[in-house]
Amino acid sequence: MIFRHLPAVLLVFLLFAGYSFIGLIVIGQPSSNTHHYTPMPAAKRIDAKKLFKQKCVKCHGVDGAGQTAFGEVIGATDFTDSEWQKRVDDQRLINSMTYGRGQMPSFGKKLSKDQISLLLDYVRAFKS
Ligand code: HEC
Repeated sequence: MIFRHLPAVLLVFLLFAGYSFIGLIVIGQPSSNTHHYTPMPAAKRIDAKKLFKQKCVKCHGVDGAGQTAFGEVIGATDFTDSEWQKRVDDQRLINSMTYGRGQMPSFGKKLSKDQISLLLDYVRAFKS
């Protein structure tokens, strides 16, 4: 009887565990992030991080790998893939963020150009 529902229960558990894990990373970030490569001044990086958390993490994940429950389903790009980072130029990424690309929504109306270029630097910093 109970085994019939096991797959669903497992799925819910896995989703919950995944989100708790992401929550832990978010909370743990200020201290664990001190040795991260920073291509921009600290104050700007904090702005970018806040923006990214508000608007992008849902799909792209705190670590930029796109392995959130949502990101996996819609195929969010893995920003830590250095081959991908080499292949795409800045203008293309700005266009994708501004006008959208595939399942990725457009942000041209929600974010200023400055914010988008801040996020470009932030996305570039995920390069491993
Ligand atoms: C609803 C989920 C979702 C959200 C929210 C989202 N993205 Fe994406 N993003 C995607 C998907 C899916 C792709 C892959 C698009 C493709 O290449 O088909 C992508 C791709 C990208 C790319 C690579 C585009 C390219 O030209 O290859 C960048 C850069 C990017 N996202 C930045 C962001 C930033 C910055 C935010 C927050 C402001 C954001 N995304 C929010 C889903 C999302």
